[in-house]
Amino acid sequence: SEAELATGQALFRKPAEFLKGVVAMSGLPDPDRVEFCFAGRSNVGKSSLINALTGRKGLARASNTPGRTQEVNYFTLEDRYLVDLPGYGFANAPVAVVAEWQRLMRAYLSGRANLRRAFLLIDHRHGPKAVDEEIMGLLDTSAVPFQTVLTKADKVKASDRAKVLEKTRATLAKHPAAFPEIVVTSSEKGHGLEDLRAVIAAIT
Ligand code: GTP
Ligand code: MG
Repeated sequence: SEAELATGQALFRKPAEFLKGVVAMSGLPDPDRVEFCFAGRSNVGKSSLINALTGRKGLARASNTPGRTQEVNYFTLEDRYLVDLPGYGFANAPVAVVAEWQRLMRAYLSGRANLRRAFLLIDHRHGPKAVDEEIMGLLDTSAVPFQTVLTKADKVKASDRAKVLEKTRATLAKHPAAFPEIVVTSSEKGHGLEDLRAVIAAIT
């Protein structure tokens, strides 16, 4: 609604700030406020989406190189925490190093008391992969509500759009922790950002 969109705009007009990068569960800030996170395969566009939503290009470091985000990065957004996670499903780095971020990412997703919602980012060109379903299973087991965001909508072929959406809906239907509503975005073109801001602002 108009009112929800206005609330979303107001929240994101406040300056978002980087707080810290965390490399172990013991480094997480006190769970004393509403928190939500962006999770997804490496290179799906998590950091870019945070920059696009906040209107701050260099806030979260985005890169062509998969595996750019290697820490659990905390940002403050008014009275909430916004969290950028390392990507999963990424093999092109030393095995032991990758294993460590992956362990942290999974521990975070399954054990963070104040995590109200995980946004699970999936490339609109491809839809959910096996590794996404594995994370969905972890979120189901951990009872963390998650909402799917299809990214890079500017890159999906018109002829694939409906098919991928349908496949994504069918996958979500199997997961009890999934919100049925899917948000379609393009950080590049700005598509869906207002909707996602409104969804985020409504999380209490
Ligand atoms: P990791 O930190 O490695 O897990 O990656 P990430 O999910 O944070 O992805 P990141 O935001 O770094 O983006 C990866 C690449 O995708 C970059 O080259 C971005 O410019 C590009 N990208 C992100 N969002 C979009 C989008 O909406 N459209 C297009 N065309 N490219 C995008
Ligand atoms: Mg990143």
